[in-house]
Amino acid sequence: MYFKKVILSMMLLQLSAANAQQKINPDSIRSKMSWFEDAKLGIFIHWGIYAVNGVDESWAFYNKKMPWTDYMNQLKGFTASKFNPASWADLIETSGAKYAVITTKHHDGVALWNTKENHYSTARNTPAMRDLITPFYSELHKRGIKAGAYFSLIDWSHPDYPGFMKDSSRYKISNDSKRWERFRQFYQNQLKELSVNFNPDLYWFDGDWEHSAEEWQSHKVRKMLIDKNPNTIINGRLMGYGDYDTPEQNVPVSRPAYNWWELCMTINNNWGFQHKDTNWKTPYEIISLFADVVSHGGNFLLDIGPREDGTIPEEQVHVLRELGAWNKKHAKAVFGTKAGIAQGHFYGPTTLSKDSTSLYLFLQGQTSGTIMIKGLSNAIREINVLGTDTKLTHKVVGKISWSPVPGLVYINIPKGVQNKYITVLELKLDKPVSLYRGKGGFE
Ligand code: GLC
Repeated sequence: MYFKKVILSMMLLQLSAANAQQKINPDSIRSKMSWFEDAKLGIFIHWGIYAVNGVDESWAFYNKKMPWTDYMNQLKGFTASKFNPASWADLIETSGAKYAVITTKHHDGVALWNTKENHYSTARNTPAMRDLITPFYSELHKRGIKAGAYFSLIDWSHPDYPGFMKDSSRYKISNDSKRWERFRQFYQNQLKELSVNFNPDLYWFDGDWEHSAEEWQSHKVRKMLIDKNPNTIINGRLMGYGDYDTPEQNVPVSRPAYNWWELCMTINNNWGFQHKDTNWKTPYEIISLFADVVSHGGNFLLDIGPREDGTIPEEQVHVLRELGAWNKKHAKAVFGTKAGIAQGHFYGPTTLSKDSTSLYLFLQGQTSGTIMIKGLSNAIREINVLGTDTKLTHKVVGKISWSPVPGLVYINIPKGVQNKYITVLELKLDKPVSLYRGKGGFE
């Protein structure tokens, strides 16, 4: 009993911690979040001058791996000469993603649109000589894919931004509030440009950790963007003024307490293109991570890094195509579903249809033989191997007629029905899923 109380108060503490960070009332945003909640998959694009030499996006000079001037020299090599926004959008559509988020400006301060502010842009300072966001968004819109704008609050190249390189800053806000005010005006003007020119469906802020909500004026920024478009969604990197949480590179091991969340992950070891980084995740790895995330009720934002000329490396294209082919076959189990049953009933990811009458089991690797479900009180009406015509049978063992304890469900999976990546079983239940989590016996 005491143990149960401790667990309960720990869970409540966790929940209130999540809510305290989040200054937004979930009920007030529930309806605008519905497309995001159903989308499950987004493609993240880190494209910038860092792809020229293949160095860490912005961090290369910040971490003093190279001088800032050498880093900025890459401006001269950024051509976008083979950029084909229609084929980018085709690839994103093929992957099954419902939204895309592109770096409109990373921490290095180089805007990918034609900013009117007096600062770096691909239009003014690179041989690309143009705004790259407009044509890309227009191709996304044609395909009904939502368009997201990554925007770095940090701008290490701006002369009025306090931070510059690791262990060296330009000034302290407390010593020169006018200078900070100049920067704030500048960055908010750029955001205004984004909202007026592109009206993004989603803003993906980054770098909020360098200043407080008061310093950024997060509340004001949120209001400005929402006033322009009440349906726009804001990620959780605006010091508490975002709509959803953004764990990075780390698939949660237990179900997060947040209402909405999105895991962003690289396709190799870096966000941007790096010639030497060939540590590609395989389609199997990506698909199993994706299933894991969706089973916990989250979205997966898979990052790709195009080359400076706008071509997307073949290995990245391959992963997106394979993911798309798998999504096509298993769409029912993924898109528009909700988080699966509590962990422990089945050893693997699961999802549920919105009405909870279909339970989807994701089988890792090439599972064959017998799998087991514990504590399922429902009767199973039908079992389908998704993407095939195969129906499977099951048996229930240990169900004593007068006891509330459900029996154990065993399903035998023959060889030959497996998908090459992840096999999905659809269990059609007699009524919304009902789980037994008691002790057994008369409890
Ligand atoms: C981190 C890094 C940044 C990257 C981002 C993607 O915040 O600072 O380089 O763009 O993660 O989520």
